Amino acid sequence: MKQPTILYLTVGSFAFLAVGLVITVWLPGYLKDPQPTEFAIDYNDVELEGRDVYIREGCWYCHTQQVRSIEVDVGTVWLKGDIGPESVPGDYVYQKPVMWGTNRQGPDLSHAASRPYATKEWHIIHLEDPDNVVPGSIMPSFEHLNDGDMDALSDYLMALK
Ligand code: HEC
Repeated sequence: MKQPTILYLTVGSFAFLAVGLVITVWLPGYLKDPQPTEFAIDYNDVELEGRDVYIREGCWYCHTQQVRSIEVDVGTVWLKGDIGPESVPGDYVYQKPVMWGTNRQGPDLSHAASRPYATKEWHIIHLEDPDNVVPGSIMPSFEHLNDGDMDALSDYLMALK
């Protein structure tokens, strides 16, 4: 290959890369800075600790936190009924990282705290042995968590309004 051809290819590649970055990364943020919605959660310190436990224990392998429009009022996985309002970008403005997840072995948890039965005590009993409150549940037990982790994790779940 001649020298100028290599130069054109190199410059061309970088130019394409730059245009791609601007369009997919910079422009969306610049055009639409989402405003916090009523579901945007600004976690306190204990809830943040709980989120770390959530991440560490791999809860997000089985649970998403993103309700799609087609699911609203329909319910998914095992749960009859609603799993909450549709998620919009403004719900996540204070979240870094976001816990969207990829896979649903269990229900979406975006609005887990708004379920009629959800209390901190219910979550602790459920986490210790899901079968206690949901007979036949395939969710693993998390009774190995120490009291501090269990407390923080259930606080985190109760923050998911
Ligand atoms: C192997 C997959 C799996 C993992 C890992 C898992 N879960 Fe679950 N989870 C489920 C399934 C299935 C259900 C539905 C049955 C039930 O309620 O026990 C569920 C239900 C739940 C519910 C009740 C949701 C509702 O709508 O009532 C909560 C809250 C929950 N999980 C939290 C967690 C947390 C927190 C962790 C991590 C510590 C976790 N799960 C890890 C599979 C999983």
